[in-house]
Amino acid sequence: MLKRILYKWLRVRIRRSGAKIDGDFYCESFFIKGTAKNFRSANHLYIEKDAIMSIKENGKLTIGAYFYMNHYSIIDCYYQITIGNRVQIGPHCYIADFDHDLVVDLNRPFHRGDKKLAPVIIEDNVWIGAGVTILKGVTIGKNAIVAAGAVVNKDVPANTLVAGVPATVKKVIDYPVNANT
Ligand SMILES: CC(C)(COP(=O)(O)OP(=O)(O)OC[C@H]1O[C@@H](n2cnc3c(N)ncnc32)[C@H](O)[C@@H]1OP(=O)(O)O)[C@@H](O)C(=O)NCCC(=O)NCCS
Repeated sequence: MLKRILYKWLRVRIRRSGAKIDGDFYCESFFIKGTAKNFRSANHLYIEKDAIMSIKENGKLTIGAYFYMNHYSIIDCYYQITIGNRVQIGPHCYIADFDHDLVVDLNRPFHRGDKKLAPVIIEDNVWIGAGVTILKGVTIGKNAIVAAGAVVNKDVPANTLVAGVPATVKKVIDYPVNANT
């Protein structure tokens, strides 16, 4: 009973934040930090506890249908992150569309304040394993798999498995895709 009330309250909070979710979603905590009105998602959004979407300044985060994000993962969006349909993100991942400036500016309290921005795109059916870091400017192609622990700093071709630091293609995926789903 208490759980149902908490869940309803959470749904109201999400709607009130200005976030747009077309349809059903499941989450255990309020997962949007910052500019929630720039958050847009299709239906069947499933966010595990302590996963966070952080949308800052004019960042725009768009997510397709049937999205799953596991515990303790973070999407850090200052600019533009676009995620397709049926994308699964494992636990402890970090996805960002910015870098800090490499120059140290001691006149500023946060001395690497300026940001270099570049969009991140994650296409349909991508699976991102546990502990993956995805850096700015990267596109991960359709059906790709990013193995646990990888750091992705370059585009990942569709239908490939990448692994390692930095991530490189380990093999082409030729598993069947069930077209009925
Ligand atoms: C990618 C994965 C699914 C294995 O897929 P697979 O098709 O069985 O791949 P293989 O074991 O044949 O590995 C292919 C190559 O990639 C390498 N590889 C696989 N996973 C790797 C990883 N996490 N880090 C580094 N290299 C890896 C293998 O060593 C192999 O390299 P080689 O050809 O030089 O020997 C698995 O390794 C993985 O990372 N799973 C993620 C698990 C996870 O995060 N679970 C949380 C649930 S969301």
